[in-house]
Amino acid sequence: MNTSSKILVTGGTGYIGSHTTVELIIQGYDVVIVDNLSNSELFILDRIEEITGVKPAFYDYDLTNRNQIRQIFSEHPDIKGIIHFAASKAVGESVEKPLLYYRNNLNSLINLLEEMQPAGISHFVFSSSCTVYGQPDKLPVTEHAPVKPALSPYGNTKKICEDILKDTIAGGKDINVEALRYFNPIGAHASGLIGELPRGIPNNLVPFITQTAIGIREELKVFGDDYNTPDGSCIRDYIHVVDLAKAHIVALRRMMARENKSKYEMFNLGTGNGYSVLEVIKSFEKVSGHQLNYKIVDRRPGDIEQIWADTTLANNELGWKAELGIDEMMRSSWEWEKKYRNASKKY
Ligand code: UFG
Repeated sequence: MNTSSKILVTGGTGYIGSHTTVELIIQGYDVVIVDNLSNSELFILDRIEEITGVKPAFYDYDLTNRNQIRQIFSEHPDIKGIIHFAASKAVGESVEKPLLYYRNNLNSLINLLEEMQPAGISHFVFSSSCTVYGQPDKLPVTEHAPVKPALSPYGNTKKICEDILKDTIAGGKDINVEALRYFNPIGAHASGLIGELPRGIPNNLVPFITQTAIGIREELKVFGDDYNTPDGSCIRDYIHVVDLAKAHIVALRRMMARENKSKYEMFNLGTGNGYSVLEVIKSFEKVSGHQLNYKIVDRRPGDIEQIWADTTLANNELGWKAELGIDEMMRSSWEWEKKYRNASKKY
């Protein structure tokens, strides 16, 4: 095991970043976090410490500033790999502010790539998304499915970032890249100390469900029940964030085992199971004992009808498989919501 390896986690106080930091620490890695706190809270560092007994080094820096990246690398010359989560991720906002999304998501990647080699770092894990598949022609979708034109500037940044990484390796840079295409991460850490913490009105389904159940939102709007699916609502491959976090460590270890061989790989990270919006609601009602106030409304523009992953490649090559099912995802999301709201008395 790489017990002494130091890893830079960008966006490490965010939703997936914080869960991955916890898993890295538990598995013996030394973690440095950089996060500009644009969509996360500083207290998450204390929560990480509460869970693991370790408080990671932290920089409130912006990755669009190259000098700040250089400073981190000079203060931590022993960083061996980077897991890059930091990015703007709201689909709707990206339509209104495309330049913000292109600047944040592309410049931060380019800066990291330009600075990592002089710093002697050769391993890079990238947060990509199933958004690159659009509505696939065949389900479940494999990594060989064609990349479709993006439906939003956010989605386009994920596609362009993948291209930047591929081209960088093709151009001869000696780096290893694992691009991980996430399906729909939900759920929270079993401790209830970290979880998804959207600012303002949530865009995503599960935080909207839990906020409705706890009384912050009046009702959930289900966007469409006239899709060509068994119950008419959209289908997604929801994956527990802790399973997702663990996949990053497996991917990192795989790269480190092939030290100095530059290679680009990508993997779907999902469970391989699709659930409809109405099935997700049913699971929530079952595990929480709450009847959810929801109503069916029109379709949300830009939503794809249905997608779920073929995870064969990740199962076979990474030796990784998602273990937690939909009920556990909903149960942990609900426990996190209750614990967070009760502790902060914000509702
Ligand atoms: N939904 C509702 N009501 C809500 C919110 C969502 O019915 O209030 C539905 C959506 O219509 C969709 C499903 O719940 O059918 C999941 O929606 P999310 O917004 O939670 O997730 P998306 O699948 O739309 O988006 C996710 C990520 C994006 C990524 C995209 C790729 O959040 O970052 O997957 O498909 F780009």
